[in-house]
Amino acid sequence: MTTEKIYFYPVWLRIWHGFNALGILLLIITGISLHWSGDSPLISFKTSVLLHNISGIVVSVSYLLFFFGNLFTSNGFQYQVKAKGLAKRLMKQMRYYAYGMFRHEEPPFPLSEKRKFNPLQKYSYILVMYICLPILILSGLALMFPEVIIEKVYNFSGIFLTALLHSILGFMVSLFLIIHLYVASIGKNPLKNYRSIITGWHEMNH
Ligand code: HEM
Ligand code: HEM
Repeated sequence: MTTEKIYFYPVWLRIWHGFNALGILLLIITGISLHWSGDSPLISFKTSVLLHNISGIVVSVSYLLFFFGNLFTSNGFQYQVKAKGLAKRLMKQMRYYAYGMFRHEEPPFPLSEKRKFNPLQKYSYILVMYICLPILILSGLALMFPEVIIEKVYNFSGIFLTALLHSILGFMVSLFLIIHLYVASIGKNPLKNYRSIITGWHEMNH
């Protein structure tokens, strides 16, 4: 048996991913504690605000690395949207995750240098990185500088609406993370992909 390796994750991407992963974990823990304000049994309100603000800035700055890295290097090609036949491709991959995988079928979209994500992976990454995270960051920055927020929208306070939007997106990103950690463990060896995002090298499954 040969182990073919492909260099999937360049250094800048791994640096972004490391800061982002640690930052988001901290944001989720402190975000939960902020949401039920008052002092949580683990972290005081003051510490939660401080840690949430610091990790919020870390995630915002490292997002720029992801954004410009994908704009200026070939990694960005992995994120190009192709609408034609999309629903069919997504269904095919869903069927594999729900059924084919457990019957040891071959994956419908084998990975290669040209395609490092299967369609479900690709579109969930696009959704989280180009829609959810930017709105989360912008609403977070607005909460950090509340004087920029409109005072009233109809009868609702602007700060309330921003915090609501922020919490909903925080919840969605938390959900993404749980699914992300599960999907990353699929393969010949559950730790294989976790090693790749640290070393940069993806080991093929044959
Ligand atoms: C997955 C990531 C995140 C989660 C789960 C999250 C969650 C939350 C939650 C639940 C609250 C309390 C809102 C409320 O219930 O009224 C909050 C507040 C806040 N968030 Fe986030 N957030 C995240 C990312 C960010 C980012 C990236 C920033 C900054 C750019 C940020 C900045 C803030 C600020 C400034 C507040 C107001 C409280 C404070 O002064 O610390 N958050 N967040
Ligand atoms: C403890 C936290 C995390 C761990 C252990 C982890 C693990 C991994 C692993 C193993 C991969 C490579 C396999 C793959 O491509 O699916 C990966 C890639 C990726 N992860 Fe994570 N992840 C974490 C947090 C996050 C978070 C919070 C986000 C976004 C909000 C994220 C977004 C991504 C993206 C976009 C890629 C693909 C990057 C590229 O190749 O262009 N990850 N992660």
